[in-house]
This record gives sequence, structure tokens and C-alpha cells, in this order.
Amino acid sequence: MLKSELRQQIRDTKRLFTQQQLSEWSLPIVRRLKERLRDARVVMAYYSLPDEVCTHQLIDDLVAEGKTVLLPKVLDDERMELRRYTGPQDLREGAFHIMEPVGAPFTEFLQIDVALIPGMAFDAQGRRLGRGKGYYDRLLTSVDCKTLGVCFDFQKVREVPVGEHDVPVDEVI
Ligand SMILES: Nc1ncnc2c1ncn2[C@@H]1O[C@H](COP(=O)(O)OP(=O)(O)OP(=O)(O)O)[C@@H](O)[C@H]1O
Ligand SMILES: [Mg+2]
Repeated sequence: MLKSELRQQIRDTKRLFTQQQLSEWSLPIVRRLKERLRDARVVMAYYSLPDEVCTHQLIDDLVAEGKTVLLPKVLDDERMELRRYTGPQDLREGAFHIMEPVGAPFTEFLQIDVALIPGMAFDAQGRRLGRGKGYYDRLLTSVDCKTLGVCFDFQKVREVPVGEHDVPVDEVI
């Protein structure tokens, strides 16, 4: 199956569910994530779009626990940087309607303990299908930490088609 076909299949499946359903399904996933992040001090996360596993409460809880939370900021057609998130007041809408923190770039990549990586689909080997721009594949070449793929159960597929640039995740939650 081609990447484009799998993306379309996931998009079609997502349309079968309401926002309410996706929010409900996010709760146990976020509980599992919190458990996995208990010992992490610096966490790279993502600020979820409406069709992704909801991370809004999670990142505020991580900040409240004293952890350093980093979110991506889209710079151009290819690159993202990381910025520190300290609370909702930091956020502004950026490219693709994604909320991103204002502030200086975080470049201490070696300090990152765990990264949460959203995806359109993952397989059991950690192969990942994103939204098709390669942003995470480029960003992940700079980080060297445990990577957790985050998705709903219906986004876990038997095999994700990949190319040479695709960076797999260590584990899918
Ligand atoms: N490290 C890289 N260097 C150069 N090109 C890259 C790199 N990573 C990805 N690309 C290119 O980016 C394009 C999109 O990649 P791909 O289809 O894997 O996106 P994706 O992983 O689904 O999206 P995303 O990571 O943004 O969620 C491809 O043409 C790919 O060759
Ligand atoms: Mg990719």
C-alpha cells in the first residue's frame, strides 16, 4: 500500500468518529503516557489538533509536576524547532493551525528524556506515517531519546510503508 493510500484510509476512518468519541478515547491513552513519563524530566510533546490524541491537559499536568515540556514550532516548509511550554499563555496559532509556544528555541537536545510523536499510523515495529511533509523525520535526526508514538487504536496497522528518510519510534503507546 502507498503512503498516500494509507493516509486517505486513516482520514476516512477518522471521519466515522465524533470529536467527543476521540476525546474519550484519549483519556486512557493519556493515562498510559503519564505512567511512562513518571521519571522523565524533559519531555518533547505535541499540542494536539482536534483529530489527534488530546495532549492539552497532559502537558499542563507535566508542567505542574515540574517537568520541562517542549513543543515544536514550524519554521518553514521543512523544519521545526523546539520551544519550551510553561502554560497556555505561551501559545499562538502557527502553521497548519497548530498552537505553538512563543519564545527562544530549545537546543539542548541531549537533555530530552522522552519524545511524544503523533502520527497518522504506526505499525508494531514503530514505523510511522505522518501527515506527509517529513517534519518529524527531520526533527528526530537531532534528538537522541526514547521516542513514543501516540495514536488511537484504529491507527495501528499491520505495516506502514516507509522510505529511507523515515525515522521509526521506539514504542507505540
Ligand atoms: N531527513 C530528511 N532529509 C530530506 N528529506 C526528507 C527527510 N525526511 C523526510 N524527507 C522528505 O520529506 C517528504 C515527506 O516525508 P514523509 O512522507 O515521510 O512525511 P511524514 O513522515 O508522513 O510527515 P511528518 O514527519 O511531517 O509527519 C519526503 O519527500 C521525504 O523524502
Ligand atoms: Mg516520514
